[in-house]
Amino acid sequence: MERRSFLKGLAVTGAAIGATGVGPFISKGLAARNLENIGECKSVKITCVSETSWFDSPRMLQDIKDAGGAMVCHYDIPWTQSNLGGYVALIEVEQLDGSKHTIQLDTGWDQGWTDYVMEKSGLDSLLNNKKVDALVMSHEHEDHFFGLKSTLKRYPNITMVIPNTFYPEGKLMLAGKYKNDKAKVNNDVPHKGELVEVGPDKIYKMYPGVAAKMFDIPIMLRTRGEQCLIFNIKDKGVATVTGCCHMGLLTMLNWAARNVEGYKPYACYGGLHIAAFENWDPKFDDIIRGAKKIGLQKMGCNHCTGWIWAQKAHDMGLPIVLGTQKYKEYKKLPTTGPGAKDNVYLRNGDVMVL
Ligand SMILES: [Fe+2]
Ligand SMILES: [Fe+2]
Repeated sequence: MERRSFLKGLAVTGAAIGATGVGPFISKGLAARNLENIGECKSVKITCVSETSWFDSPRMLQDIKDAGGAMVCHYDIPWTQSNLGGYVALIEVEQLDGSKHTIQLDTGWDQGWTDYVMEKSGLDSLLNNKKVDALVMSHEHEDHFFGLKSTLKRYPNITMVIPNTFYPEGKLMLAGKYKNDKAKVNNDVPHKGELVEVGPDKIYKMYPGVAAKMFDIPIMLRTRGEQCLIFNIKDKGVATVTGCCHMGLLTMLNWAARNVEGYKPYACYGGLHIAAFENWDPKFDDIIRGAKKIGLQKMGCNHCTGWIWAQKAHDMGLPIVLGTQKYKEYKKLPTTGPGAKDNVYLRNGDVMVL
Protein backbone atom coordinates (compact mmCIF):
# COMPACT_ATOMS: atom_id res chain seq x y z
CA MET A 1 0.00 0.00 0.00
CA GLU A 2 1.31 3.46 -0.86
CA ARG A 3 1.89 5.87 1.98
CA ARG A 4 -0.72 8.29 0.65
CA SER A 5 -3.55 5.69 0.53
CA PHE A 6 -2.52 4.32 3.93
CA LEU A 7 -2.87 7.80 5.47
CA LYS A 8 -6.19 8.27 3.67
CA GLY A 9 -7.38 4.99 5.17
CA LEU A 10 -6.38 6.14 8.63
CA ALA A 11 -8.36 9.35 8.21
CA VAL A 12 -11.47 7.40 7.18
CA THR A 13 -11.12 5.01 10.13
CA GLY A 14 -10.62 7.97 12.48
CA ALA A 15 -13.76 9.61 11.17
CA ALA A 16 -15.69 6.36 11.62
CA ILE A 17 -14.48 6.06 15.22
CA GLY A 18 -15.52 9.65 15.84
CA ALA A 19 -18.92 8.99 14.28
CA THR A 20 -19.62 5.99 16.53
CA GLY A 21 -18.53 7.94 19.56
CA VAL A 22 -15.62 5.67 20.49
CA GLY A 23 -13.09 8.50 20.33
CA PRO A 24 -14.85 10.79 22.81
CA PHE A 25 -15.64 7.73 24.96
CA ILE A 26 -11.92 6.97 25.32
CA SER A 27 -10.95 10.46 26.44
CA LYS A 28 -14.01 10.78 28.69
CA GLY A 29 -13.32 7.33 30.15
CA LEU A 30 -9.77 8.27 31.10
CA ALA A 31 -10.85 11.50 32.73
CA ALA A 32 -13.63 9.84 34.68
CA ARG A 33 -11.66 6.90 36.04
CA ASN A 34 -13.37 5.67 39.20
CA LEU A 35 -10.93 5.82 42.07
CA GLU A 36 -11.62 3.59 45.06
CA ASN A 37 -12.09 5.48 48.31
CA ILE A 38 -11.23 2.92 51.00
CA GLY A 39 -11.13 5.43 53.87
CA GLU A 40 -8.30 5.67 56.37
CA CYS A 41 -7.07 3.83 59.42
CA LYS A 42 -4.63 5.00 62.07
CA SER A 43 -2.04 2.26 62.25
CA VAL A 44 -1.35 -1.35 61.29
CA LYS A 45 0.69 -3.89 63.23
CA ILE A 46 1.72 -7.08 61.42
CA THR A 47 3.05 -10.08 63.32
CA CYS A 48 4.82 -12.77 61.36
CA VAL A 49 3.21 -15.88 62.88
CA SER A 50 5.10 -18.02 60.37
CA GLU A 51 6.72 -17.27 57.04
CA THR A 52 8.54 -20.60 56.71
CA SER A 53 6.25 -22.64 54.51
CA TRP A 54 9.09 -25.07 53.93
CA PHE A 55 12.39 -25.25 55.73
CA ASP A 56 14.57 -26.38 52.85
CA SER A 57 14.00 -24.83 49.40
CA PRO A 58 15.90 -27.49 47.35
CA ARG A 59 13.75 -30.21 49.00
CA MET A 60 10.53 -28.32 48.16
CA LEU A 61 11.66 -27.85 44.56
CA GLN A 62 12.60 -31.53 44.29
CA ASP A 63 9.11 -32.59 45.48
CA ILE A 64 7.59 -30.55 42.65
CA LYS A 65 10.08 -31.88 40.07
CA ASP A 66 9.56 -35.50 41.16
CA ALA A 67 5.79 -35.12 40.79
CA GLY A 68 6.13 -33.85 37.21
CA GLY A 69 6.77 -30.12 37.47
CA ALA A 70 5.06 -26.85 38.23
CA MET A 71 1.95 -27.63 36.15
CA VAL A 72 1.01 -30.55 38.42
CA CYS A 73 -1.86 -29.86 40.82
CA HIS A 74 -0.72 -29.18 44.39
CA TYR A 75 -3.36 -31.62 45.68
CA ASP A 76 -1.54 -34.38 43.73
CA ILE A 77 2.00 -34.01 45.06
CA PRO A 78 3.32 -36.35 47.79
CA TRP A 79 5.03 -33.58 49.77
CA THR A 80 7.95 -34.42 52.05
CA GLN A 81 6.12 -34.00 55.34
CA SER A 82 9.20 -33.29 57.47
CA ASN A 83 9.92 -30.20 55.33
CA LEU A 84 6.55 -28.49 55.81
CA GLY A 85 5.69 -25.38 57.84
CA GLY A 86 3.18 -22.82 56.62
CA TYR A 87 2.40 -19.14 56.10
CA VAL A 88 0.28 -17.16 58.59
CA ALA A 89 0.24 -13.45 59.45
CA LEU A 90 -1.66 -11.64 62.17
CA ILE A 91 -2.72 -8.07 61.40
CA GLU A 92 -4.04 -5.66 64.00
CA VAL A 93 -5.58 -2.45 62.69
CA GLU A 94 -6.24 0.61 64.83
CA GLN A 95 -9.03 2.80 63.50
CA LEU A 96 -9.09 6.61 63.72
CA ASP A 97 -11.70 6.40 66.52
CA GLY A 98 -9.46 4.07 68.56
CA SER A 99 -11.42 0.88 67.83
CA LYS A 100 -9.51 -2.17 66.61
CA HIS A 101 -9.85 -4.88 63.99
CA THR A 102 -7.91 -8.13 63.92
CA ILE A 103 -7.32 -10.04 60.70
CA GLN A 104 -5.64 -13.40 60.18
CA LEU A 105 -4.04 -13.85 56.77
CA ASP A 106 -3.81 -17.49 55.66
CA THR A 107 -3.93 -20.76 57.57
CA GLY A 108 -0.50 -22.41 57.28
CA TRP A 109 0.27 -25.89 55.93
CA ASP A 110 1.49 -28.58 58.35
CA GLN A 111 -1.02 -28.74 61.20
CA GLY A 112 1.57 -29.55 63.86
CA TRP A 113 3.68 -26.55 62.86
CA THR A 114 0.64 -24.28 62.47
CA ASP A 115 -0.67 -25.19 65.95
CA TYR A 116 2.82 -24.54 67.35
CA VAL A 117 3.23 -21.07 65.80
CA MET A 118 -0.33 -20.10 66.68
CA GLU A 119 0.39 -20.86 70.32
CA LYS A 120 3.76 -19.12 70.24
CA SER A 121 2.32 -15.91 68.72
CA GLY A 122 -0.86 -15.68 70.82
CA LEU A 123 -3.08 -16.16 67.75
CA ASP A 124 -4.24 -19.38 69.39
CA SER A 125 -6.01 -17.59 72.26
CA LEU A 126 -7.34 -14.84 69.95
CA LEU A 127 -9.07 -17.55 67.88
CA ASN A 128 -10.29 -19.47 70.93
CA ASN A 129 -11.81 -16.24 72.30
CA LYS A 130 -13.34 -15.28 68.93
CA LYS A 131 -11.26 -12.13 68.80
CA VAL A 132 -10.27 -12.44 65.14
CA ASP A 133 -12.68 -10.44 62.97
CA ALA A 134 -11.81 -12.09 59.67
CA LEU A 135 -9.71 -14.82 58.14
CA VAL A 136 -8.50 -13.66 54.75
CA MET A 137 -7.15 -16.33 52.40
CA SER A 138 -4.61 -14.89 49.99
CA HIS A 139 -4.88 -17.92 47.67
CA GLU A 140 -5.43 -21.66 47.65
CA HIS A 141 -1.78 -22.80 47.59
CA GLU A 142 -0.85 -25.65 49.92
CA ASP A 143 1.39 -23.62 52.21
CA HIS A 144 -1.31 -20.98 52.82
CA PHE A 145 -4.42 -23.15 52.94
CA PHE A 146 -3.80 -26.83 53.77
CA GLY A 147 -3.52 -26.03 57.50
CA LEU A 148 -7.13 -24.73 57.55
CA LYS A 149 -8.16 -27.17 60.28
CA SER A 150 -5.84 -25.49 62.82
CA THR A 151 -7.94 -22.33 62.49
CA LEU A 152 -11.41 -23.88 62.15
CA LYS A 153 -11.05 -26.24 65.12
CA ARG A 154 -10.50 -23.12 67.25
CA TYR A 155 -13.07 -20.87 65.60
CA PRO A 156 -15.41 -22.56 63.08
CA ASN A 157 -17.69 -19.50 62.88
CA ILE A 158 -14.96 -17.11 61.80
CA THR A 159 -15.78 -14.83 58.84
CA MET A 160 -13.74 -15.92 55.82
CA VAL A 161 -12.75 -13.83 52.81
CA ILE A 162 -11.47 -15.89 49.88
CA PRO A 163 -10.80 -15.36 46.16
CA ASN A 164 -13.85 -16.55 44.16
CA THR A 165 -11.65 -18.91 42.13
CA PHE A 166 -11.19 -21.78 44.59
CA TYR A 167 -11.20 -25.25 43.00
CA PRO A 168 -13.63 -28.03 44.10
CA GLU A 169 -11.02 -29.52 46.45
CA GLY A 170 -10.76 -26.15 48.22
CA LYS A 171 -14.54 -25.94 48.54
CA LEU A 172 -14.60 -29.46 50.06
CA MET A 173 -11.90 -28.35 52.50
CA LEU A 174 -14.17 -25.47 53.56
CA ALA A 175 -17.08 -27.89 53.95
CA GLY A 176 -14.99 -30.11 56.24
CA LYS A 177 -15.29 -32.99 53.78
CA TYR A 178 -11.81 -33.47 52.34
CA LYS A 179 -9.19 -36.14 52.90
CA ASN A 180 -6.32 -36.74 50.50
CA ASP A 181 -3.75 -39.37 51.44
CA LYS A 182 -1.38 -38.58 48.56
CA ALA A 183 -0.70 -34.93 49.40
CA LYS A 184 -1.58 -35.64 53.03
CA VAL A 185 -4.12 -32.88 53.38
CA ASN A 186 -7.42 -33.09 55.19
CA ASN A 187 -10.05 -31.12 57.00
CA ASP A 188 -13.08 -32.51 58.82
CA VAL A 189 -14.13 -29.30 60.60
CA PRO A 190 -16.70 -27.44 58.47
CA HIS A 191 -16.51 -23.67 58.18
CA LYS A 192 -19.76 -22.33 59.62
CA GLY A 193 -19.24 -18.57 59.50
CA GLU A 194 -19.90 -16.01 56.77
CA LEU A 195 -18.01 -16.71 53.54
CA VAL A 196 -17.15 -13.74 51.33
CA GLU A 197 -15.89 -14.60 47.85
CA VAL A 198 -14.02 -11.76 46.19
CA GLY A 199 -13.80 -11.44 42.41
CA PRO A 200 -11.40 -9.35 40.33
CA ASP A 201 -13.91 -6.72 39.25
CA LYS A 202 -14.61 -5.13 42.60
CA ILE A 203 -12.39 -4.22 45.53
CA TYR A 204 -13.80 -5.57 48.82
CA LYS A 205 -13.90 -2.88 51.49
CA MET A 206 -13.59 -4.53 54.90
CA TYR A 207 -13.19 -1.69 57.41
CA PRO A 208 -12.22 2.00 57.14
CA GLY A 209 -8.82 2.04 55.46
CA VAL A 210 -8.80 -1.73 54.86
CA ALA A 211 -9.67 -3.53 51.61
CA ALA A 212 -9.00 -6.78 49.77
CA LYS A 213 -8.11 -6.69 46.08
CA MET A 214 -8.28 -9.92 44.09
CA PHE A 215 -6.27 -10.53 40.92
CA ASP A 216 -7.63 -13.31 38.70
CA ILE A 217 -4.35 -14.85 37.62
CA PRO A 218 -3.17 -18.36 36.77
CA ILE A 219 -0.63 -19.60 39.30
CA MET A 220 1.74 -22.58 39.29
CA LEU A 221 0.53 -25.94 40.69
CA ARG A 222 -3.00 -25.43 39.29
CA THR A 223 -4.10 -22.58 41.51
CA ARG A 224 -6.04 -19.57 40.35
CA GLY A 225 -6.39 -16.07 41.80
CA GLU A 226 -4.68 -14.24 44.64
CA GLN A 227 -5.88 -11.36 46.75
CA CYS A 228 -3.82 -8.86 48.72
CA LEU A 229 -4.81 -6.62 51.59
CA ILE A 230 -4.55 -2.88 51.10
CA PHE A 231 -4.34 -0.44 54.02
CA ASN A 232 -4.60 3.33 53.72
CA ILE A 233 -2.86 4.70 56.80
CA LYS A 234 -3.54 8.34 57.71
CA ASP A 235 -0.59 10.70 57.14
CA LYS A 236 1.55 7.77 55.96
CA GLY A 237 0.15 6.22 52.81
CA VAL A 238 -0.82 2.87 51.35
CA ALA A 239 0.57 -0.43 52.58
CA THR A 240 -0.01 -3.82 50.95
CA VAL A 241 0.13 -7.19 52.69
CA THR A 242 0.52 -10.33 50.60
CA GLY A 243 0.71 -14.09 50.95
CA CYS A 244 2.80 -14.97 47.88
CA CYS A 245 2.15 -11.97 45.60
CA HIS A 246 1.88 -14.18 42.51
CA MET A 247 0.32 -11.20 40.72
CA GLY A 248 3.74 -9.56 40.87
CA LEU A 249 4.94 -6.76 43.14
CA LEU A 250 4.98 -4.12 40.40
CA THR A 251 1.57 -5.15 39.00
CA MET A 252 0.04 -4.91 42.48
CA LEU A 253 1.67 -1.60 43.42
CA ASN A 254 0.89 -0.02 40.08
CA TRP A 255 -2.73 -1.15 40.41
CA ALA A 256 -2.93 0.49 43.85
CA ALA A 257 -1.31 3.67 42.54
CA ARG A 258 -3.84 3.91 39.70
CA ASN A 259 -6.95 2.91 41.63
CA VAL A 260 -6.77 3.87 45.31
CA GLU A 261 -7.99 7.41 45.93
CA GLY A 262 -5.30 9.60 47.49
CA TYR A 263 -2.62 6.94 46.90
CA LYS A 264 0.74 7.66 48.48
CA PRO A 265 3.40 4.92 48.36
CA TYR A 266 4.31 3.70 51.83
CA ALA A 267 4.95 0.04 52.59
CA CYS A 268 4.60 -3.63 51.76
CA TYR A 269 4.79 -6.82 53.80
CA GLY A 270 4.84 -10.49 52.88
CA GLY A 271 5.97 -13.00 50.34
CA LEU A 272 6.78 -11.38 47.00
CA HIS A 273 7.36 -14.52 44.90
CA ILE A 274 10.42 -13.29 43.07
CA ALA A 275 13.33 -15.72 43.64
CA ALA A 276 11.17 -18.29 45.45
CA PHE A 277 13.71 -21.08 45.02
CA GLU A 278 16.80 -18.90 45.38
CA ASN A 279 17.44 -18.81 41.64
CA TRP A 280 18.44 -15.65 39.75
CA ASP A 281 17.01 -14.13 36.62
CA PRO A 282 18.11 -10.73 35.20
CA LYS A 283 14.49 -9.57 35.31
CA PHE A 284 14.75 -9.58 39.10
CA ASP A 285 17.02 -6.53 38.72
CA ASP A 286 14.18 -4.82 36.87
CA ILE A 287 11.84 -5.49 39.80
CA ILE A 288 14.36 -3.70 42.03
CA ARG A 289 14.48 -0.76 39.59
CA GLY A 290 10.68 -0.68 39.31
CA ALA A 291 10.20 -0.79 43.08
CA LYS A 292 12.72 2.06 43.48
CA LYS A 293 10.71 4.18 41.08
CA ILE A 294 7.49 3.58 43.03
CA GLY A 295 9.22 4.85 46.15
CA LEU A 296 8.02 2.78 49.12
CA GLN A 297 9.42 3.74 52.51
CA LYS A 298 9.34 0.30 54.14
CA MET A 299 9.52 -3.16 52.64
CA GLY A 300 9.03 -6.18 54.87
CA CYS A 301 9.92 -9.29 52.86
CA ASN A 302 9.86 -12.99 53.64
CA HIS A 303 8.53 -16.39 52.51
CA CYS A 304 8.77 -16.77 48.69
CA THR A 305 10.47 -13.39 48.09
CA GLY A 306 13.79 -15.20 47.85
CA TRP A 307 16.59 -14.36 50.26
CA ILE A 308 18.86 -13.69 47.28
CA TRP A 309 16.48 -10.99 45.98
CA ALA A 310 15.87 -9.38 49.38
CA GLN A 311 19.65 -9.23 49.95
CA LYS A 312 20.30 -7.65 46.57
CA ALA A 313 17.39 -5.21 46.95
CA HIS A 314 18.79 -4.21 50.36
CA ASP A 315 22.29 -3.76 48.92
CA MET A 316 20.89 -1.65 46.08
CA GLY A 317 19.17 0.72 48.47
CA LEU A 318 15.55 -0.46 48.68
CA PRO A 319 14.16 0.14 52.20
CA ILE A 320 14.15 -3.51 53.29
CA VAL A 321 13.13 -3.75 56.96
CA LEU A 322 15.62 -6.01 58.71
CA GLY A 323 14.40 -8.87 60.88
CA THR A 324 15.56 -9.82 64.36
CA GLN A 325 17.03 -13.07 65.58
CA LYS A 326 13.73 -14.07 67.22
CA TYR A 327 13.17 -16.85 64.68
CA LYS A 328 16.02 -18.75 66.29
CA GLU A 329 13.79 -19.35 69.34
CA TYR A 330 11.51 -21.53 67.17
CA LYS A 331 11.84 -25.31 67.28
CA LYS A 332 12.75 -25.55 63.60
CA LEU A 333 14.91 -23.22 61.52
CA PRO A 334 14.96 -22.45 57.79
CA THR A 335 18.12 -23.36 55.91
CA THR A 336 18.26 -20.08 53.93
CA GLY A 337 19.94 -17.06 55.40
CA PRO A 338 21.68 -18.31 58.53
CA GLY A 339 25.19 -16.98 58.74
CA ALA A 340 24.39 -13.82 56.79
CA LYS A 341 25.34 -10.49 58.36
CA ASP A 342 21.91 -8.90 58.03
CA ASN A 343 18.58 -10.65 58.33
CA VAL A 344 16.83 -9.33 55.22
CA TYR A 345 13.65 -11.26 56.05
CA LEU A 346 10.99 -10.45 58.63
CA ARG A 347 10.96 -13.92 60.10
CA ASN A 348 8.88 -15.91 62.54
CA GLY A 349 8.03 -13.78 65.56
CA ASP A 350 9.03 -10.48 63.96
CA VAL A 351 6.65 -7.52 64.05
CA MET A 352 6.27 -4.62 61.63
CA VAL A 353 4.38 -1.53 62.77
CA LEU A 354 3.03 0.80 60.10
FE1 LIG B 1 3.47 -19.31 49.46
FE1 LIG C 1 1.68 -19.30 46.47
